[in-house]
Amino acid sequence: MTNNLFLRVVILIGFSIGSVLHGSLVAASEKAILDPNARFHPVVSNSGMVVSQEMIASQVGADILSRGGNAIDAAVATGFALAVTLPRAGNIGGGGFMLVHLAAENKTIAIDYREMAPASAYKDMFLDAEGDVDNLRARFSIHSSGVPGTVAGLIHALDNYGTLSLKQVLQPAIDLARNGFAVSVDLSESLLARKQTLQNDPASKGYFYKADGSGYQPGEILAQPDLAKTLGRIADKGRAGFYQGRTADLLMAQMQRNGGLMSLQDLANYQVVERTPVCGDYRHNRVCAMPPPSSGGVHMIQMLNILEGWDLRSLGHNSAAYLHRLVESMRRAYADRSQYLGDPDFFPVPVAQLTDKKYAALLRGQIDLQHASRSEDIRPGLSQSTLGSALGSESSETTHFSTWDQWGNVVSNTYTLNFSYGSGISVAGAGFLLNNEMDDFSAKPGAPNGYGLVGGEANAIQPGKRPLSSMTPTIMFNRADEPILATGSPGGSTIITIVMQMILNIVDFDMSVAEATAAARIHHQWLPDSVFYESGISVDTLRLLREMGHQLDDKTGVLGSTQSIQRLGVESPQREEIEAPQREEIESPQRLGVESPQRPVIKSILYGTADYRRAGSGVAIQRQSPKD
Ligand code: GLY
Repeated sequence: MTNNLFLRVVILIGFSIGSVLHGSLVAASEKAILDPNARFHPVVSNSGMVVSQEMIASQVGADILSRGGNAIDAAVATGFALAVTLPRAGNIGGGGFMLVHLAAENKTIAIDYREMAPASAYKDMFLDAEGDVDNLRARFSIHSSGVPGTVAGLIHALDNYGTLSLKQVLQPAIDLARNGFAVSVDLSESLLARKQTLQNDPASKGYFYKADGSGYQPGEILAQPDLAKTLGRIADKGRAGFYQGRTADLLMAQMQRNGGLMSLQDLANYQVVERTPVCGDYRHNRVCAMPPPSSGGVHMIQMLNILEGWDLRSLGHNSAAYLHRLVESMRRAYADRSQYLGDPDFFPVPVAQLTDKKYAALLRGQIDLQHASRSEDIRPGLSQSTLGSALGSESSETTHFSTWDQWGNVVSNTYTLNFSYGSGISVAGAGFLLNNEMDDFSAKPGAPNGYGLVGGEANAIQPGKRPLSSMTPTIMFNRADEPILATGSPGGSTIITIVMQMILNIVDFDMSVAEATAAARIHHQWLPDSVFYESGISVDTLRLLREMGHQLDDKTGVLGSTQSIQRLGVESPQREEIEAPQREEIESPQRLGVESPQRPVIKSILYGTADYRRAGSGVAIQRQSPKD
């Protein structure tokens, strides 16, 4: 980027073409200036960009953009590559959610490729003889796997919104699996941490450890020939390369060896569902995220609605007064989550009521600004409306990636195996891990799952149902309805509050995406009644929170790993830079009898930030052609 361009990017105040066209001021978040004195800086690109939790996979996506692919092509290529290079979360044996924004149609679609319960699954399948939840069975047995959705979901996105062939987007992942890649510090350490679980399964032991059972050191090459063959079958046969034929037979053989319930019919019946994103206005922005069966979008919007009633900026970022309001909003939203959220194809989820600003005002009115409430006193709240100890010991290894292309198409994708390396069971001969997403169902009303989340009837196990998720792939739009942020995170139950804090940091505190990512985060989820917090919240603030009555967890570690792209300050020509006749056409189209004014070419400047809370993440940008 030239210096001149850089200056134009960073000094973006006032009169943008976007604001003229839409007759409104630019939303607050676009007034931000990249401050050369800031402690954290994003990666900048004036073409396309990919941000993911693993740098090789980000580069795969950016290479697809450089070859002329769009954001959806890049996302699908990145998703398949992560299945090879980030096996603890990237996957073909799991499921997830993708938000796609199509610039030409100004349309945003939510693609649900969440796992489905097998047809022979039943409500009490994880209860033991005493009626207690058998957590080993729910989390680490063959029964813990739902029918995988990732392959169907990525192919659906490519077929409907991509431009390249499946072979083209899969080839980099096939090459990485067949030829191997250098093991990162992160991969080496995560395999060491999960050694016991993975070595319980002969196939996983063979795939992820050396013949003598020792782990791979950073820099050593990990090849996955069985996975390469499975990816090759998908490239050749599409969806049938996974849900039928040899891959399906290998999966069935694994089911038979371990006594699993999943059948060939379950695989054949797997359905991707396109849903309407759940959107809400937050100050001058529109926030769109994943609807049920994820709870992410509904509760993020619910919490933003509560918080919108206060001038958060004046309280100071991460001050006690600010964090108190966040905690009390989170407490109420998660109480509602426990009762009202589940798969909307099986349970009537009251999305409109939960995201109604009047309901948020009612909840806001119940919050004592000086004292913490106790979770045991808070109940799911819609019935009052006139409208109608640990987080869990398991590490969550969902992963998020964002892609943005030169035409303004955007993808925000979160997918997962649930826990790190899922159930730990690999499909022998097929080279991929199975998820343990069945644990996201409520195995028993009130019994916490692996993230300490409780639920009831709405999220009970039923054949063909999708377990409730917290994944929150998000795209934010400015007042002119242009996308300005794609973000999301892993983190199990904490995902929703993490993504919300990204939005608050950017909208209320004018942070760049890099500063917003680096800022310390907190989390509360009603039960357990604890405030989880990262290092970086001051001891004085923590003392004030304690004095207000909050119970603080002092071993939180880190919260999430957002992978975000911000379109901060489009390179909008200043008003005086536009030729007078064109300016008149833009400003007064009716007077000139012009129905739809010709929009000048506005080149997006993208700002990407990989979250280094998880090592190895990275931003990769589209290569420029020489003329650029
Ligand atoms: N498996 C974590 C989630 O979907 O929220």
